[in-house]
Amino acid sequence: MTSYKELGLVNTREMFAKAVAGGYAIPAFNFNTLEQMQAIVQAAVETKSPVIMQVSKGARNYANGTILRYMAQGAVEYAKELGCKNPQIVLHLDHGDSFELCKDCIDNGFSSVMFDGSALPYEENIRITKQVVEYAHAHDVTVEAELGVLAGVEDEVSSAVSHYTKPEEVVDFSTRSGCDSLAISIGTSHGAYKFTPEQCTRDPKTGRLVPPPLAFDILHEIEKKLPGFPIVLHGSSSVPQEEVDTINAHGGKLPDAVGIPEEQLREASKSAVCKINIDSDSRLAMTAAIRKHFDEKPGDFDPRQYLKPARENMKKMYIHKIVEVLGSNDKL
Ligand code: G3H
Ligand code: 13P
Ligand code: ZN
Repeated sequence: MTSYKELGLVNTREMFAKAVAGGYAIPAFNFNTLEQMQAIVQAAVETKSPVIMQVSKGARNYANGTILRYMAQGAVEYAKELGCKNPQIVLHLDHGDSFELCKDCIDNGFSSVMFDGSALPYEENIRITKQVVEYAHAHDVTVEAELGVLAGVEDEVSSAVSHYTKPEEVVDFSTRSGCDSLAISIGTSHGAYKFTPEQCTRDPKTGRLVPPPLAFDILHEIEKKLPGFPIVLHGSSSVPQEEVDTINAHGGKLPDAVGIPEEQLREASKSAVCKINIDSDSRLAMTAAIRKHFDEKPGDFDPRQYLKPARENMKKMYIHKIVEVLGSNDKL
């Protein structure tokens, strides 16, 4: 058993309480590689922001759970080395799909876990979330749960049953499961294609797709039912069009990739939404820099030559999110 406390990590409890009260959101950046981790830490230290470094089941399989755990410990030590006296870094399991996986992460240095039972029947979701909460709380680890299915607007219009989170369920769910935060579905979705062109309008000036707005009415109803309770938004990449353009201009093929407009994430950050998940934007920033580099310097083959600009581009994106979108800067 390795407690996250031995690694210098913190859980989300205090950071979420401060974020909800202060009207900002904590960045939750997914990571799989050394360069992503370095860029996240540099961005968090330079902006004096708390940060959640999150790992999916796929990331654990890709990078190895033991390595990721010590990378998180390395992140804390690196932040101190960069001059941050009191780093507030969470190592979080993203989309845990079983009690066993959540337990394994808790036993191996994670300070926060998500049990994602959103696709399960309601009672089954409560039952397993509660089981995770009981184990996690015994180790002072915090638990994120999910209610409502993140599938995007398409399902909302094509399905007779809404997949958006039902505000009338949130009090019962959070009370009975005992979760510390709740991921909700209000129209965001994972990946770089969040909406089809048919769901969007087109800006006549730029020719860009303009997606439909998030369901802020549902968010506000949930806030009224659960005053001060930490709410999480998954699928919150903005899919920056300049990165998509760079990728497409250098041999990539990402037609009509579209994300959540940053103004809407800015608005959400001021509400009870206190954790915003971003993965795809990091993938896009990394890929754009690498494609550009190879196109311009086809003779390069030392990974440092193309991973360095990739790391710098990700860092720039992380800083932009922290300062211009989530407002978590200057909070340490
Ligand atoms: O929500 C999913 C995250 O973007 C992680 O994706 O399972 O491909 O690592 P992944
Ligand atoms: P994006 O695909 O929008 O970056 O969402 C990431 C996420 O929700 C990770 O859990
Ligand atoms: Zn997610």
